[in-house]
Amino acid sequence: MENKKHGFGSALGFILAAAGSAVGLGNLWAFPYKVSQNGGAAFVLVYIACVVLIGCIVMMAEIYLGKRGKANTVSAYKKVNKNLGFFGVIAIIIPTVIVCYYCVLGGWTLRYAVNSFQPNDALSNANSFANFTSNPIMPIAFTFIFMAITAVIIMGGIKNGIERAAKFLMPILFLIVVFIAIFSLFLGDGVKDGLNFYLNPDFKELGFNGVLAAMGQAFFSLSIGMGTLISYGSYTGKEIKVGKSTFMICLFDSLVALLAGLAIFSSLGALQPDSLQEAHGVGLVYQILPQVFEKMGGFGSVISLLFFIMVVIAALTSVISILEVSVQFICQRYKKKRKSVTIIMAVICFLVSVPITWSVGGAFDGKIILFGYDLLTFLDEIANTVLMPVCAMGACIAIGWFIDKKVRFNPMKTLRALEKDGLELGFFGKIFAVMVKYVAPLVIGVVVVMGIVGKYAEYMLKGLNYSYIVGGALILIAIAVIVYFMFFENKDTGDNHTEEIVESK
Ligand code: PFF
Repeated sequence: MENKKHGFGSALGFILAAAGSAVGLGNLWAFPYKVSQNGGAAFVLVYIACVVLIGCIVMMAEIYLGKRGKANTVSAYKKVNKNLGFFGVIAIIIPTVIVCYYCVLGGWTLRYAVNSFQPNDALSNANSFANFTSNPIMPIAFTFIFMAITAVIIMGGIKNGIERAAKFLMPILFLIVVFIAIFSLFLGDGVKDGLNFYLNPDFKELGFNGVLAAMGQAFFSLSIGMGTLISYGSYTGKEIKVGKSTFMICLFDSLVALLAGLAIFSSLGALQPDSLQEAHGVGLVYQILPQVFEKMGGFGSVISLLFFIMVVIAALTSVISILEVSVQFICQRYKKKRKSVTIIMAVICFLVSVPITWSVGGAFDGKIILFGYDLLTFLDEIANTVLMPVCAMGACIAIGWFIDKKVRFNPMKTLRALEKDGLELGFFGKIFAVMVKYVAPLVIGVVVVMGIVGKYAEYMLKGLNYSYIVGGALILIAIAVIVYFMFFENKDTGDNHTEEIVESK
């Protein structure tokens, strides 16, 4: 009952907030170009398979971990088994690291939205992006504003802050993406070529690397393996069905990604076909699209504004969910009020984001480089290739193997234990049990290993040593384990109820 007062007010509120976490730059920017680079519709098919077979399973495991624990990630894991608490610490470290660089991209996006009002700013000028990002002050100022908005929403709490923002912002985002997708289909003859480039199925081009890319994209896009869903799940009550909510979130996330690709590639095909081949990476959203908007004539600045508002909303609702994980933990573990904790965490993440901004933007002649990588790439690689999969595996292991310690290898016994524990699985119960216990952890393990091996080759060719990335990730995991067993194993790490008591004082 305590959850009602403090947690999400309705199932819809939770679904929209979780969808807000899932829909982000990964959908509007990474997904479209990854599709076009990895075999078009062939990639989409594999992506959907990854979402359905692995993504949904991990998402259900994470939401349920939170829902049953009614607590921050560390306590949620501890409530399954005391020795698994370190997964909760990793699940706090990862999102906190991600906030520090994701908000830099959020800041850039905010600047582009604001500048849609000023067509004379020559956004389409190829140097404009480089001038902006290499400026030592401007990107930081926009990151600051972005972070401040994030903090204000989190300070409002789950129901009055996060849920309210999601209920207001997510329908707007959806309307914009549908509108822009339809609009771009009518831009002229070249639309067909653009769509052909985007979706033409080519299984040869997909290859094994394409499959790995689809898997990584599915994880990042669904926000799994980062503690955010455990944290949001903890604020849900009986009214939320884990399976149904997962289905809705995954559907919404995939739909937005597909529509964004449709919009981007139809417009490119019609207005700037020469750029189709180079439409990837940071340049797609921040360099090529502004040129395309300019070619739309008078309507262009309206579309540009709508597009960048949509990207800002997507980035904002994602960063909110990522920052919430550490805020929740600190509030509950140290019995502090949400408002002050949010401000402290936002300031820390903002301060860390400053060198990242300089590093990725190339300010000070690009001197802020770590082992040959800009800081954003370095941290993103650490999180994506090692930490997130480890955390996703943690959720599967906790749910598949530890809910009832007496159950060993038989997935049907696991199913019974889960149902007894309170997870309603219905028709898909047997499949879920087999997947969460065996298939998902195994597939994730294989993907991590293959991913690391593949990246070694890729980065070595660029003259960069990938060992630093893997080493960095392993060090973070080791720190998480040590911190857990030294400081949190035998301590009360609090729960949502603690937070409520502190707030009401
Ligand atoms: N899912 C978001 C995207 O697709 O951009 C990114 C994200 C959100 C990553 C939440 C991590 C996270 F915890």
